[in-house]
Amino acid sequence: MSRSSGTADLPEAFIDQLRIVSGQYHNRKILTDSADCWAYGYDNSRGRSLPAAVALPESTDEVAAIMAACAEHRIAVCPRGRGTSTTGGAIPPQGGLALSLERMNRILSVDPANRVAIVEAGVINQTLQDHLKPHGFFWPPDPTSAAFSTIGGNLACNAAGPRTLKYGTPRDNTLGLTAVTPQGRIIRTGSYTTKSVVGLDLTRLLIGSEGTLAIITEATLLLTPAAQAETTLRASYSSITEAAAAVSRIMAQACQPRAIEFMDSGAIRAIGQLDRNPLPEQTRALLLIDVDGTENGLQESVDAIMAAAQSDGLLEWLRASSENEAAILWQTRKALAPSLRKLAPGKINEDIVVPVSRMAELIDALDRLAQDHRLLIVSYGHAGNGNIHVNLLYDPADERQTAAANKCLAEVFELTLSLGGSLSGEHGIGFLKRNFVSMEVDDETMAVMRGIKSQLDPLNILNPGKMYPDQVTH
Ligand code: LAC
Ligand code: ZN
Repeated sequence: MSRSSGTADLPEAFIDQLRIVSGQYHNRKILTDSADCWAYGYDNSRGRSLPAAVALPESTDEVAAIMAACAEHRIAVCPRGRGTSTTGGAIPPQGGLALSLERMNRILSVDPANRVAIVEAGVINQTLQDHLKPHGFFWPPDPTSAAFSTIGGNLACNAAGPRTLKYGTPRDNTLGLTAVTPQGRIIRTGSYTTKSVVGLDLTRLLIGSEGTLAIITEATLLLTPAAQAETTLRASYSSITEAAAAVSRIMAQACQPRAIEFMDSGAIRAIGQLDRNPLPEQTRALLLIDVDGTENGLQESVDAIMAAAQSDGLLEWLRASSENEAAILWQTRKALAPSLRKLAPGKINEDIVVPVSRMAELIDALDRLAQDHRLLIVSYGHAGNGNIHVNLLYDPADERQTAAANKCLAEVFELTLSLGGSLSGEHGIGFLKRNFVSMEVDDETMAVMRGIKSQLDPLNILNPGKMYPDQVTH
């Protein structure tokens, strides 16, 4: 997506109304200068599209008034956090209004006795974690973008990360939401308690709906007590098959690791020579395993996990001897997404999911696709969930490679579904993948989803052009 002109000017009366409902003319809550607006026209997908105006509301009431003005004037709205979406989710394909939640960044309460925190949508994930630490808690979702991405964005995409394996996704760690509907009404979903069956579960419906049904402005989050002890293990394997089989065995025993991350040989090459703890030369697959628990129970868990991970193909075990060494082992994993950009100027980064037992088949088939299409494919990711980041690397200036990458992408999705998987585990559909959705969701089911969308947003002004496939008219 690249759109830099043709943005019809918004009606003067609409901009005036926005300024009035935003309470002030002078504190730059509404931006219309294109130099200012450009900062809200891109995200980590590297697509671009210029919004005609930007709103920077500071309260749920302001979001509601802005949304009501947009409904009255039929202006498209694209809500956004900090723009870390890899799928174009934070870009306004139709121009219109970008609504940034960045100023709604207050942590409203932390209630250790009930393991609950209430936060505004614009709070950065890492800021929340730092705030919770002295209380002895954390909020489990930990996307790699945690240092920059907002809780609202994490909720919108159900963005997860490595710890999901043991502690679940945002859907599993959120009790309730305050949100603004496309007509500008404020709704409150869920409850303050961990049990409640009153009414429909709108909390889980809004989480992961990618800002297409309502704008989440506040969230009541369920916290988890920090573990007393934790450690990181690294296991090097001579083949993908051996590593994938080990993941299945680890997941089938009672001591659940906090995370099991996987890297294939391409990812290992991308990391390059490790100064500390170099890998055995024959390493073709790597597992990074985090284990946490009580002081007394940790060793027992490590032993159980190591026993399950044993195989003829296990070349080496390493256990981090300190927090610092664990951080160094994780640094290589966390740096992978940006470091792949060094291998090729173009990267299609997917986040497909397959049942854990089918992972080796997936990686073998990806090798074949790479050969068939003469492309470099590098895979790594959250192996315990079968959630693999498949990266198709190519040069966008090269016509053959670009065509091959796009053809290969469709084949990667076909392969994933043939193995019983799903197209996206945590990055969402956004703008880029919406026309692949019907490969996974059948027509009847899609009709129900569209019905829910049009019930909430009959004018189709909230985040149009996202998530739902283009409608084919016969
Ligand atoms: C990661 C991002 C790409 O896991 O989801 O690094
Ligand atoms: Zn990931």
